[in-house]
Amino acid sequence: MPKILVLNGPNLNMLGTREPAHYGHARLADIVAGIEARAKELGAAIDCRQSNHEGELVTWIQQALGQADALIINAGAYTHTSVAIHDAIRAVGLPTWEVHLSNIYRREAFRHHSYISPLAEGVICGFGAAGYIAALEAAVTALSTSQGNK
Ligand code: DQA
Repeated sequence: MPKILVLNGPNLNMLGTREPAHYGHARLADIVAGIEARAKELGAAIDCRQSNHEGELVTWIQQALGQADALIINAGAYTHTSVAIHDAIRAVGLPTWEVHLSNIYRREAFRHHSYISPLAEGVICGFGAAGYIAALEAAVTALSTSQGNK
């Protein structure tokens, strides 16, 4: 069974009330419930976590080495600033899918650069919560191909 770590970064705990024009009305708990339901259907084990702290996200990425088979990450604003998260993903070498609820390319210029994209297998933005499901499906498909359908 593929094991996938799903990380959400700063301020994503405020989904539901935070800038709904950009992020919609779903709460993080609703999004996580949707990811968990799809993971169950796909036969994947997922571990969904959120942190407002860069170092905690770095630690969780490090701890995924040998524990998880893939990483799905919406690093929030750290996407655009964090060399530390970039380095952690690079250090563990896990296949990574980057997700953003909003279309970061239609927004301020400072959101157009991502430190994660150069390391990612795929990047999904602007599809709202459906982006996490697409990333999960892509990760499960990629893992089943690379692991010989184990
Ligand atoms: C975000 C986009 C980021 O620019 C922003 O800082 C976030 C959320 C998104 O999901 O669209 O916190 O990652």
